[in-house]
Amino acid sequence: MPARQSEKVVHYSSVAKFLHWAIMLLVIVQFITASIMPGVRHNQTPGFLLSIHMSFGLTIIALMIVRLLWRFTHASPPEDTMLPRWQHTLAHLMHYALYALLILVPLFGWAWASSRGWPVTVFGIYTLPSILAQGSAWGRVVDYAHAGGAVLLLMLIGFHILAALYHHYILEDTVLNSMVPKNLSL
Ligand code: HEM
Ligand code: HEM
Repeated sequence: MPARQSEKVVHYSSVAKFLHWAIMLLVIVQFITASIMPGVRHNQTPGFLLSIHMSFGLTIIALMIVRLLWRFTHASPPEDTMLPRWQHTLAHLMHYALYALLILVPLFGWAWASSRGWPVTVFGIYTLPSILAQGSAWGRVVDYAHAGGAVLLLMLIGFHILAALYHHYILEDTVLNSMVPKNLSL
């Protein structure tokens, strides 16, 4: 094991790790359902796949609210002082952008579904209010914002994963392991 990786790893809390990996799995479900669900015509209501897409997407909003509150009230592992300042700034900007998109993209989806007059339910158990009037002129805007935001999210996730691998395999530091469960350390 490289010298720096044998240093003591300061881990994210178990709650932060659970939320990070649970939300990652839900985001994967979102992109899989989005790519296989059939389009909905004007006189139809959402089918099974779109209902799953909406329910898991709304679950992401709920988990992101918990994550934000947790993030503001609990410390993260300290920054590596050996890295240049611009890398810390870039990492912070990336994390803020990921947080923002993980809340805005599902909110735009919810607004888009509302504007089409569809009932927005969480697994058919709980119906949420409409956040945009049916037939609103903003419907098109939030549709594009939802689809465009999802593409941007996917690009940032790709960059984020490359950065994590760069830390582990090139810089050989403890950043990746700080987010991995202790018994699964790489
Ligand atoms: C992080 C969460 C989410 C991601 C990554 C995501 C991603 C996507 C993607 C990639 C598409 C296909 C866009 C296109 O090519 O036109 C899509 C479509 C859609 N999503 Fe989401 N979505 C999320 C959450 C939600 C939520 C919470 C709702 C509603 C409550 C929702 C409702 C919709 C609707 C209504 C469509 C269009 C279906 C159609 O017109 O056929 N999405 N989503
Ligand atoms: C849907 C996919 C993912 C999303 C949306 C995501 C999002 C995030 C966010 C928002 C943070 C900031 C954590 C905080 O301060 O609260 C973070 C941290 C982190 N993520 Fe991810 N992540 C994803 C996938 C991954 C994957 C696949 C890896 C590993 C290859 C990874 C490795 C890490 C690491 C190591 C950190 C800590 C970075 C640091 O402390 O500087 N993430 N992630």
